[in-house]
Amino acid sequence: MKIPLIVANWKLNGNENILTKYVKNLYNKFNNVKNINIAIAPPIIYLNILKKIIGKKNIFLCSQNVDIHENGSFTGEISAKMLKDIGVKYSIIGHSERRNFHKENYEYISKKFNILIKNNITPILCVGENIKEYISNKSIQTCINQISCIINNLGIKFFKNIVIAYEPIWAIGTGHAANKEHIQKVHKNIRKYIKKYDKKISESIIIQYGGSVNIDNVKDLFFQKDINGFLIGKSSLEINNFISIINNIQECL
Ligand code: 13P
Repeated sequence: MKIPLIVANWKLNGNENILTKYVKNLYNKFNNVKNINIAIAPPIIYLNILKKIIGKKNIFLCSQNVDIHENGSFTGEISAKMLKDIGVKYSIIGHSERRNFHKENYEYISKKFNILIKNNITPILCVGENIKEYISNKSIQTCINQISCIINNLGIKFFKNIVIAYEPIWAIGTGHAANKEHIQKVHKNIRKYIKKYDKKISESIIIQYGGSVNIDNVKDLFFQKDINGFLIGKSSLEINNFISIINNIQECL
């Protein structure tokens, strides 16, 4: 069985005090856990502070963003090299909030993917359809379009050891997750699509689900064959909630 990956995406929330206490708590609780990988994606300015708490243990740092350049005159940006420098392991790219609010297109996301791989940071590539696409039965095709652009630009070898997060836009932050059958179908088809290029990669790739995951639905979702972890927003912000979610997953292992 693949080691599940659970990521807390803090988005634009928290402060130094809250995040420090949160990560200390998480560290004390899961420091020695081997059968589950946990990562925290705080706002980027707090990554370095949190690094000092978690050290090199099995709770990992994840960035919410990265620039497409390594250095140079790009005011306000953070490079993959800098993230690597402070020990970041994962970076979220292609999140629908960045695709929509920051107008990041397929090509731009593909450049981010490339620079992360070059710097040995694991991309968590978010894909997912909007409500219109969902209603018109285009969930799978939308996700495959988002993935195929990167495969066409960079090649399937770039997908070795990366993470895909299926996040239907209509389920994010609504309190209503997609149903498990729908998620399983999308995940299965993503895997099947990758298999056309590389069987080994398709079998080993971690496919997370994100969109209103909570304590009550996490077990049911985790029992689906092709769900290998979760990218969690709102329900990860409160420490006891997040700990309970992880505990629930552990009970399934
Ligand atoms: P919610 O868990 O708040 O729905 O957010 C999901 C998400 O966007 C994680 O990246």
